[in-house]
Amino acid sequence: MEQYVIKGGTPLVGEVEIGGAKNAALGILAASIMTDETVLISNMPDVRDTNIMLQAMENIGVLIKRIDRHTVEINASRIHSQVIEGDYVKRIRASYYLLGALLGKYKQGTVVFPGGCAIGARPIDQHIKGFKALGADVDIAHGMVNAKASALKAAHIYMDVVTVGATINVMMASVMAEGQTIIENAAKEPHVVDVANFLNSMGANIKGAGTDVIRIKGVERLHRSEYMIIPDQIEAGTFMFAAAVTKGDITVKNVIPKHLESISAKLIEIGCEVQESDDEVRVVASKRLSHTQVKTLPYPGFPTDMQPQITVALALGQGISIVTESIFENRFKYVDELTRMGANVKVEGNTAIIDGVQKYTGAEITAPDLRAGAALVLAGLSAEGYTLIDDVKYIERGYEDFPEKLQNLGAKIARVDSERDVQKFKLRVG
Ligand code: EPZ
Repeated sequence: MEQYVIKGGTPLVGEVEIGGAKNAALGILAASIMTDETVLISNMPDVRDTNIMLQAMENIGVLIKRIDRHTVEINASRIHSQVIEGDYVKRIRASYYLLGALLGKYKQGTVVFPGGCAIGARPIDQHIKGFKALGADVDIAHGMVNAKASALKAAHIYMDVVTVGATINVMMASVMAEGQTIIENAAKEPHVVDVANFLNSMGANIKGAGTDVIRIKGVERLHRSEYMIIPDQIEAGTFMFAAAVTKGDITVKNVIPKHLESISAKLIEIGCEVQESDDEVRVVASKRLSHTQVKTLPYPGFPTDMQPQITVALALGQGISIVTESIFENRFKYVDELTRMGANVKVEGNTAIIDGVQKYTGAEITAPDLRAGAALVLAGLSAEGYTLIDDVKYIERGYEDFPEKLQNLGAKIARVDSERDVQKFKLRVG
């Protein structure tokens, strides 16, 4: 079993290059099948989720050529099936983006119902509501979601909740529908804007992405494009918090500082120094962190995908902090693991009440999901002694070369898959 072994206590110092945004990449990959012409996508993160998406696309006949590790050429002119199935696809919820893309292009698609999720129930009712409004019949049978329309017609759709997934999916389904679709109460996340920009680069006519009203005028067809994915807001934020919890000094490079504003603001509030320039942000933490209150919210609020990382930091801060999770109902599972490392956190419903401790101590823990897993790595990096983290496969869904990037900042961390490797690591780092 793959694990990370960490010897904590070293302040992380140096520069780290941030990769392309995983959650933008997943939408963009799906959207790329909507043209029969060739699409070139760069700054593609090489992580498990994007690789599973590429595999799902290949399985229906999409030609994928890897130009280099982060650049793929995609040609979807020979798709032979509109059915996305297989256990491996269930593992990524974003496989449902292929439903919006197939429906938009072929007026029909079938995708295996996305699998269960560690962070909450994650219904897809808003996706279905949007597809139906565009004229599709949608049904769920035998674990598959089917959508089919004789013609797609523009509609005025009001999202009942702010949802990234449904906003992107309905946007894709409507780009070639007849007339002007309006999505109200749309999600404003940077990756929603990136998918819209990508679709526009293929000839779509989408206006207002990044605001809560998106207007999509249907076009006849989409065409070839070359597109570079935006930097990953959450990978960047994770390294910013790595500086905070290890009392380090990290410059995260190749970022869009605007996307990091809510994260920078909280770091400043808890006593870090944050310096922004064109495409980098430096975080310096030289004293004990202090306390604050934070509530996760849709963009531009504090991201739910940074909730475990800030909790790990606040649990080391002086005083009482409150973290409220307002997006997913089950996103505090990792707190039990953090408690094993000495944290003093009480979870009541969707709120964590945190009484900061002076330090963590290393322990054997398990990554319950992607972001919580990354946050536990940060805890291990600041802890006294050794930490062993199981189930790092979750972390690798969304962080490319995580141990290597941390090593370059001075971290003592290794990916291991046997007790012998752990012993070797201990001998090496002392
Ligand atoms: C995206 O998930 C991200 N995933 C998540 O990142 C992220 O946590 C989330 O947005 C919120 O920012 C991808 O982009 C692939 P939502 P998504 O639809 O689109 C409710 C990570 O770690 N809802 O914005 O699935 C839902 O239950 C992952 O990288 C409905 O009620 O999230 C939640 O409470 C984890 N009905 C809220 O909306 C629906 O039809 C927001 O979910 C859809 C969603």
